[in-house]
Amino acid sequence: MTHLVLLHAFPVNRHLWDDQVEYLTKAGRRVLAPDLAGFGESRVPQEATMAALADQVLSQVGQPSVFAGLSMGGYVLMEILRQHPEMVTGAIFMDTKATADTDEARAQRLQVADAVLAAGQTRDLASVMLPMLLGDTTRSQNPGVVAKVRAWIEAAPAHAVATAQRAMADRPDSVPTLRRYEGPALVVWGSEDTISPSADQRIMLDAMPQAVAREIPAAGHLSAIEQPSAVNDVLLEVLTDWQ
Ligand code: MLT
Repeated sequence: MTHLVLLHAFPVNRHLWDDQVEYLTKAGRRVLAPDLAGFGESRVPQEATMAALADQVLSQVGQPSVFAGLSMGGYVLMEILRQHPEMVTGAIFMDTKATADTDEARAQRLQVADAVLAAGQTRDLASVMLPMLLGDTTRSQNPGVVAKVRAWIEAAPAHAVATAQRAMADRPDSVPTLRRYEGPALVVWGSEDTISPSADQRIMLDAMPQAVAREIPAAGHLSAIEQPSAVNDVLLEVLTDWQ
């Protein structure tokens, strides 16, 4: 049975995937959801690069697998595809994008990295990011999810946040990487995602004509926790098709 590796978003941790791990494991899949470098229980990498984040994931993945990456997790998956395409038997891109940052976005990331390190805490970051990460439906109807995501962001070490921001600022354009990838692919996004809106999904779908596209209704950027049942169904559907 194919392994599935789930790569979480910035600046949360592997618990983003708790519903998927439980559901897919019960469905007989072998699932690994590692903490990305610096988050949860993993250590901060020495280098602030996507390659360092990807290496840390691959050191835990013993065999070619299907990878699903949500947002920053998607950037890590693109890096794995660039460096070690032989490890990817299927690619699932969720609420992410393939283009590199604009100069303005890059500068903003470096500023956030410096500010968080200077503050030595991520509480202020949580207040700024929550309205962007979660869709209107979740924010108005699901206080439990809002509280959980806030707690995850507040628990993220300032160092991990700074390192991830610098690594993301440095990431290259991945459109050529996706064009080269000919394996099975799925592109998923929340209908209320404003961080990676539909124009970003279109670029990935154009680069991978073989990709299946699925929109998750009433979800923002963190679709996996905002509408877990819908995401579980989509993941199981493609894993079954790709078997
Ligand atoms: C994420 O959710 O991982 C971030 O929004 C990614 C980013 O900042 O580009």
